[in-house]
Parts: sequence; C-alpha cells; structure tokens
Amino acid sequence: MSRFEGKRVVITGGSRGIGLATASRFAAEGAHVVITGRSLDRLNDALAALGQVPNIVALKCDVTNVSELEALFAGINAHYGTFDVLVANAGVGQRTEFEKVTEAEFDRIMNANVKGAFFSVQKALPYLNPGSSVVLVGSNLSYTGWELATVYGASKAAVLNLTRSLASTLSSRGIRVNGVTPGSIRTAMLQEVVLDHYDEAEFVASELPMGFIGDPDDVAKVIAFLASDDARYILGEDILCDGGSTRL
Ligand SMILES: NC(=O)c1ccc[n+]([C@@H]2O[C@H](COP(=O)([O-])OP(=O)(O)OC[C@H]3O[C@@H](n4cnc5c(N)ncnc54)[C@H](OP(=O)(O)O)[C@@H]3O)[C@@H](O)[C@H]2O)c1
Repeated sequence: MSRFEGKRVVITGGSRGIGLATASRFAAEGAHVVITGRSLDRLNDALAALGQVPNIVALKCDVTNVSELEALFAGINAHYGTFDVLVANAGVGQRTEFEKVTEAEFDRIMNANVKGAFFSVQKALPYLNPGSSVVLVGSNLSYTGWELATVYGASKAAVLNLTRSLASTLSSRGIRVNGVTPGSIRTAMLQEVVLDHYDEAEFVASELPMGFIGDPDDVAKVIAFLASDDARYILGEDILCDGGSTRL
C-alpha cells in the first residue's frame, strides 16, 4: 500500500539532488508534491527528468526571501489546499578557506541554510495539517569540522538545533519535526565542493567506511520514513545517512 496516497508534500530545493530524489520517491508513493527552487530552468529540467508526472508541480521561490516564502505557501494553499509534509531541504555548500570567507559569503550561506529553513517552517505552519511531519535536511558537517566549510558546518549545526527546538515547539500541535543528516551524497553540490578537487577513489578510500558515495535516493528513503506513519513515535530525532563516516 502507498504510504502517502492523498497526502500533499512540499519540498524546498526540489529541482535537483536530494530534493529531486525525494520528490520522485513521494510521488511514487502516491503523494501530490510541490518542488521549489530559485531557477525556473532547473525546475523545468526537474519536471522533464521526472517525466512530467501529473502529481508533481514546480514553483519558483527563494527560501532566503521571507515574503516569497509567505506567497509560496499561501499560493499552494489557495490552489491545492493544506499539506501534510514539509521537507526543508534547500541549501548551499561551501569550499572556502577560513581567512578568505567574506561577509557576503557568510550571509549567503547562513541565509540559505539557517534563515531559509527557519522561515520555511514558520511560513508553512498555518497550512500544515494536524498530524503533519516536517523534515529538516542537515549535514554531517554539523558534527565534524572541515577547514573549507566553517560557515557551512556552523549553519548545519544550527539546523540540527532547529530540528529539536521546532520539534519541541510544534509537538503540541500534532506536528512531528525530525531531521536527516546526509554525509557524502552524489549530487551537483558534492561534485562542486568535493569531487572536482580530489581523486574520487582516494577520497572514497580515506573518508567513506562503506567504500562508496551515497545516492540521493538513500537520503530520500530516510526522509520518507521520517515523514511516514512508520515514524509516528519519532520526534526531534536526527538520522545520520552518511555510510558511517561520522561515527566510525
Ligand atoms: N550532497 C551532499 O553530499 C550533502 C551532504 C550533506 C548535506 N547536504 C544537504 O542536502 C541538501 C540538498 O543538497 P544537494 O546535495 O541535493 O544540493 P544541490 O544538488 O545543489 O541541490 C540544491 C537544491 O536547493 C535549491 N536551492 C539552493 N538555494 C536555494 C534557495 N536560496 N532557495 C530555494 N532553493 C534553493 C537548488 O535549486 P536552485 O539553485 O535553482 O535554487 C537545488 O534544487 C542541502 O541542504 C545540503 O546542504 C548535501
């Protein structure tokens, strides 16, 4: 039986990578899905890649812009009604030496990863049904340090706490908030930040205990689990999906 038959799901940053795989998974399990992103071209490419599935629509919205978020969720409600799942996935990566981080880069990363996640949940809240589920997408760099991702790591550590703070805040309304913490997942972000700069085999051998890079769908499966009734007694939790690279 499809776990999300008749459910409505909103995924920020759904035009590629983990967000796109998550959209595909929810749609395959019967949900009506809205994906968002800043680039209309990228959203159209995503719809084409998904094969113009009738239960997925794409809407342009920059999560760093709070009025765009307000308009997004009000518009979704007006056209499709209230919804059952929010995946706050949109985010940007970083590869900059500490001394070279500018104020503009600091703000760009914090705005996308922290402000974006915070206001995505706040502005979605009026339209989330009782019994809804929110999943925030963090990063294992919230647990470990990397010299080229000082701002990114701090931003994802903030997301980790946001998962717990919002779980506490929203549980009385019957809304479960949890997080997923990906490690190295094969997406454009990983390509740009990591894989373009190392020999892949050496990177995998030195960093990944399981010996391979994860697929976006590995994370999508965890997100779908957390959003489903299978996780009905899980609240404020954060599940690592990193092939063991943080714990081992
Ligand atoms: N891949 C990994 O190894 C990895 C590891 C740990 C955590 N993560 C996290 O997983 C999430 C997804 O990453 P990914 O690897 O799938 O990245 P990706 O391939 O770069 O995709 C990012 C998505 O977010 C959207 N986006 C970025 N900034 C946005 C903004 N301001 N407003 C709205 N949408 C925005 C992008 O579309 P537009 O650019 O068109 O807006 C795109 O759809 C991120 O939060 C990332 O930090 C990824």
